[in-house]
Amino acid sequence: MHADLVVVANRLPVDRVELADGTRTWRRSPGGLVSALEPVLRANDGVWIGWPGGTETGLEPFDDDGLHLLPMSMSAQEIEEHYEGFSNGTLWPLYHDLVAKPEFHREWWNGYRSVNQRFAEKCAEVAAEGATVWVQDYQLQLVPQMLRELRPDLRIGFYLHIPFPPAELFQQLPWRRQLLEGLLGADLVGFQLPGAAQNFIRLVRQRVGHKTHRDLVYLPDGRTVRAAAFPISIDFAGFEELAHRESVNARAKEIREQLGNPRKIFLGVDRLDYTKGIYARLRSFGELLRDAHFDVDDAVFVQVAVPSRERVEQYRVLRDEIDRLVGRLNGDLGRIGRPAISYLHSSFPREEMAALYRAADIMVVTPYRDGMNLVAKEYVACRYEDDGALVLSEFAGAAEELRQAWLVNPYDMNGMKAALLEAYKADQRELTRRMRAMRKTVSTNDVRHWADTFLAELARIPADHGKPVKPAKRS
Ligand code: G6P
Repeated sequence: MHADLVVVANRLPVDRVELADGTRTWRRSPGGLVSALEPVLRANDGVWIGWPGGTETGLEPFDDDGLHLLPMSMSAQEIEEHYEGFSNGTLWPLYHDLVAKPEFHREWWNGYRSVNQRFAEKCAEVAAEGATVWVQDYQLQLVPQMLRELRPDLRIGFYLHIPFPPAELFQQLPWRRQLLEGLLGADLVGFQLPGAAQNFIRLVRQRVGHKTHRDLVYLPDGRTVRAAAFPISIDFAGFEELAHRESVNARAKEIREQLGNPRKIFLGVDRLDYTKGIYARLRSFGELLRDAHFDVDDAVFVQVAVPSRERVEQYRVLRDEIDRLVGRLNGDLGRIGRPAISYLHSSFPREEMAALYRAADIMVVTPYRDGMNLVAKEYVACRYEDDGALVLSEFAGAAEELRQAWLVNPYDMNGMKAALLEAYKADQRELTRRMRAMRKTVSTNDVRHWADTFLAELARIPADHGKPVKPAKRS
């Protein structure tokens, strides 16, 4: 297999799952990245390299719905050191403003390096002469440089889906220079926000000593690297289509009834992650009930917490904390058949998510730090009647685009309570004014726009290597 476009991510767009009868199969993962990259992968007959989860070995390349997928296995030790350890115990908290304390372990770093090397070698093996390789996210920051060493003919792009921290935090990392040099193997390094790109450029100047000018880095070998923002988005049309379906709206109605037809439904949807601010948001809602701004007949908070990284210690601690808080709030504030919080520790298919978005009057997205937050954009896409309120943290990347949301500082409990209450009381005109503007933004800057812009920019970079990829056909 020699492909002109190679996408490499820690995860494949499908997960390996075991059915009830014990047989194993593949399930399409619901993530936005698949719908973003699918059209351009098809147009270029591209291949996707990634880990399917678990420790199964000997998995062969295969096609899924016309996409060429190349599974990379990981041993139990690699999962522990590279995935749970360095990626999610070191980099994840470090890149999210130290919301939790990052741990620095030399064995984790070694595991990260060797998995990155293996991924780079696989890319080098399958990429055609002059191909484009697009490396995704913080788990693979060394791949660009490792790959360039093996295959200088390639055009290499890198995109970071999470925040990139300011120098003051990043420089705690014992391997800071190696990571920066890893990223500099790319021709184009993409971030969610301009501030992140600036952080990167500044660090490269200070820590690696390369000359920089605006968004360009000049390397001693004559190559230039560009660092810029490409805010990611969602498949707006796809979500809107789902939201219009009769079955989805019937399900939304059913959800309301099952919740006892409260006047207002608040909704939170997150991976169960300590960056998401779930605890503070539920406490704020609880205090509004306690202070009698409304009662459990008026309002309920539905919190969907998608299980995530369950073997990592900080995630276990968080789960216990949320379990306890929900129990306490329901015990103190609920009545028979009327809990204050309806808590679901589970993941749901896209149809069910769309029904929840249709049912919810107030969407509450309050991370302490978030690269973008696609849930906020999905909610907006589903509100085709220009109604529904969005309460959004200032510290989510999405806040730079969704200015008409009720913007909150998630560390400020009183501020958050005030915003939740305002959103609860807002009249139709106010809701329409805000939602209409936000829908316009998200529909224009959808995920196709994101992928097309990044790849067009990568193709434009004056490089003496690599041929540009074809843009996806517009449907
Ligand atoms: C974030 C990261 C992704 C990651 C996803 C799910 O969105 O940016 O790279 O795949 O979380 O996390 P997981 O650890 O399950 O892959």
